[in-house]
Amino acid sequence: MNKLPRRIDHIGVPPIKCQGIKTKLVPFIFESLKWEPQRESRWIEPFLGSGVVAFNVAPENALLCDTNKHIIRFYNHIYKGDLDSIVVRDFLEVEGKKLASGGADYYYEVRERFNVEASPLDFLFLNRACFNGVMRFNRHGHFNVPFGHKPLRFSKAYITKIVNQVAWVTRQMRNKHWEFSVADWSDTLSMAKPDDFVYMDPPYIGRHTDYYNGWTQEEAKALSIKALALPCGFAASMWLENRHRKNEHVEESWSETDLRICSHFYHVGSSESLRNAMDEALLIRKGYATPDTGKRETKGSKAGEVVRSQTAEQIMLPF
Ligand SMILES: C[S@@+](CC[C@H](N)C(=O)[O-])C[C@H]1O[C@@H](n2cnc3c(N)ncnc32)[C@H](O)[C@@H]1O
Repeated sequence: MNKLPRRIDHIGVPPIKCQGIKTKLVPFIFESLKWEPQRESRWIEPFLGSGVVAFNVAPENALLCDTNKHIIRFYNHIYKGDLDSIVVRDFLEVEGKKLASGGADYYYEVRERFNVEASPLDFLFLNRACFNGVMRFNRHGHFNVPFGHKPLRFSKAYITKIVNQVAWVTRQMRNKHWEFSVADWSDTLSMAKPDDFVYMDPPYIGRHTDYYNGWTQEEAKALSIKALALPCGFAASMWLENRHRKNEHVEESWSETDLRICSHFYHVGSSESLRNAMDEALLIRKGYATPDTGKRETKGSKAGEVVRSQTAEQIMLPF
């Protein structure tokens, strides 16, 4: 059984990228949570996204959901063995050559094909060749991210990197009892049992107007109410504060939880003084957080990326 807290030397990276991917926060999440799964316990994620957190936990049993059917279908194909690293390599080698000769025209041809047929391989192709690696769908549910302007995107090395990521998630799922399901968060939370643990990473409020990522104040509030009524342990990731504003919702709706904070400092330009910080919160049901060890550095973090931890009450007061 994969217990938490756990320190990991190597963070696995999944083949699908999405906004708000938590790759850098995996060590922080793992060190902050206390969870001792029983034989039937499940790791539950209602907002799976790229799946980076679940794949690194690699629990025996899991319920992994998202409203984005393309993400769920992609990982379901891998879980069932219909999609593996060999299939992915063959596909990307052929399609990569077509992209190299056809450029933007070929990218848009695949995008059109995907919006009709919804093939998981085309989804991977678009996810890795589109502009800035973002995932965005219009109000009709059609993928609408423009070309990333790199016709030579699928070099031999890049294909190998993606193939290795597919092989890694395949290994993490092997012989495990995992269920991937297209579901709204509320239905997923309704399925939680007392020995399960629920990790929630909802979209940022008001940030995206994307088909799969709309997230309102009302939904955020409803999530906190339903989470606090869960019969099991839980943790929720949420942005807490940046240089322009703080997230009032955390104070208003999650004050019953223990709070751990991970601060990222982004350098703007070359000057040390031009640093932007973004505080990421992990809101943990009381009894499921590891002891507060105060200020510490995340393993493998860049200089200037620091983790500090406080209780919800402590952090709320100075705001
Ligand atoms: C911030 S992302 C999750 C990122 C993920 N933890 C990772 O590290 O890659 C939020 C996800 O929630 C999904 N989502 C948005 N609204 C949802 C809803 N109502 N129910 C379930 N999933 C939803 C989006 O499709 C998206 O994949």
